[in-house]
Amino acid sequence: MPVLNRAAKALKHPVFQTVARVADQLGLETYVIGGYVRDALLERGNAKDIDFVAVGSGIELAKAVAQNLPNRPKVQIFKNYGTAMLQTQGMTLEFVGARKESYAHESRNPSVSPGSLVDDQNRRDFTINALALSCNLDNFGRLLDPFDGLTHLDQKLLITPLDPDTTFSDDPLRMLRAVRFASQLKFVIEEKTLAAIKRNAARLSIISKERIVDEVHKILASPIPSIGLSLMHQTGLMAEVFPELMALQGIEEKEGQTHKDNFWHTLEVVDNMAQYSDDLWLRWAALLHDIGKAPTKRFDQKAGWTFHGHEFVGSKMVYKLFKRLKMPLNEKMKFVQKMVAMSSRPIVIAQEVTDSAVRRLLFDAGEDLESLMTLCEADITTKNPKRFRRYHENFKRVREKVVEVEQRDHVRNFQPPISGEEIMKTFGLSPSREIGLIKEAIKEAILEGEISNDYDQAKSFMLEKAAKLGLKPLV
Ligand code: CTP
Repeated sequence: MPVLNRAAKALKHPVFQTVARVADQLGLETYVIGGYVRDALLERGNAKDIDFVAVGSGIELAKAVAQNLPNRPKVQIFKNYGTAMLQTQGMTLEFVGARKESYAHESRNPSVSPGSLVDDQNRRDFTINALALSCNLDNFGRLLDPFDGLTHLDQKLLITPLDPDTTFSDDPLRMLRAVRFASQLKFVIEEKTLAAIKRNAARLSIISKERIVDEVHKILASPIPSIGLSLMHQTGLMAEVFPELMALQGIEEKEGQTHKDNFWHTLEVVDNMAQYSDDLWLRWAALLHDIGKAPTKRFDQKAGWTFHGHEFVGSKMVYKLFKRLKMPLNEKMKFVQKMVAMSSRPIVIAQEVTDSAVRRLLFDAGEDLESLMTLCEADITTKNPKRFRRYHENFKRVREKVVEVEQRDHVRNFQPPISGEEIMKTFGLSPSREIGLIKEAIKEAILEGEISNDYDQAKSFMLEKAAKLGLKPLV
């Protein structure tokens, strides 16, 4: 669709006419700017966040617009930043006055000296985000593009409007935003912009962890996350955010034996995962599944390179990493930890699929078994077609066995059929070590297949086990 039509389509919603009418009444030059314009020109879905910039007071404009909207929304005002926000018809509208100085996001003293539209466009991150559409009744929808943003959209190029060192020193997060847009939009970072990121990467350290993690989420959610992740690596941003991943890079050789480069392997696993699932936390699990390999790497004369216990060590590192990045230490983190801790289990089982191993896997993974199997399949990155096929076939067999065992034994989320309470009652015991021993023995017997997962068999087993411990039932 030609640009003019795309621009007109971008402002089709009646809300833009309302803003234009109100802006005219207040005598305010007003524009739609930023991501909404970019995405509309790229015909990328229907963005719901719309940024307006007014040459004058954005807050006054927001208040007046709210009075003229059917839902009369409440206006949220951020005085320090000179911005105002309101919600209407499923959209979020943000208003700001055009400014001359830096876009000092979250800085303690944001400078907001008023400026013209061009001043404001100058202070934005990339030319493609500085495109503005006029939102007054005269010139409604006219495109203002002082930095050739439109050409860069066509060329799929990320380039800063000013000297990149200036743009990035205004807000170092923009370096990671460049990488994120490259990954999300499959754009290329222009050479000088890229060189400036390499020069300034360490400045990311002054940015809040929350803003960094937001960008990492978006990189991971992109269709081919390795585009962003390898750009992070190339620019030095990876070392700032994920030193643990950097430590996986490299291939060592001893006595003619090598191991794979676990950094590049990890990136492939994340890409595979992106093909299999949109679940953000599974993608995090893919990213972190091997982090325990750097600290556990050893060379052994007989066994060659080993990474013993890397899954356990890795799951501990997940906690530290989430904590350092100020991510919530909630059930999502526990999920990632569990995936990392169990990441080799199906692989081991696949070599010899026994009923008892599958029962244990079902019991330990519970409702996350499907996710774990997906992670293991994503983990197959061998370039040898024979092995590739064999590994996938092995997992297919594990999956079939899981269905079979589950139908027969019902051990997923299983609760042992005899409770500690019942054991205490039967033998007239108060809480003690014996209760734990008997309970554990029942669980083990079921998982090993010595008895089936039913009450009567568990009860006779309990009586036998207790007799061996010298316990007699009360009746
Ligand atoms: N912006 C900027 N520097 C930043 C953040 C934002 O210059 N560090 C400007 C850009 O013009 C950007 C606009 O503010 O387009 C809106 O920012 P934001 O909503 O964070 O991003 P979008 O570009 O809208 O993209 P997305 O919605 O995908 O995050």
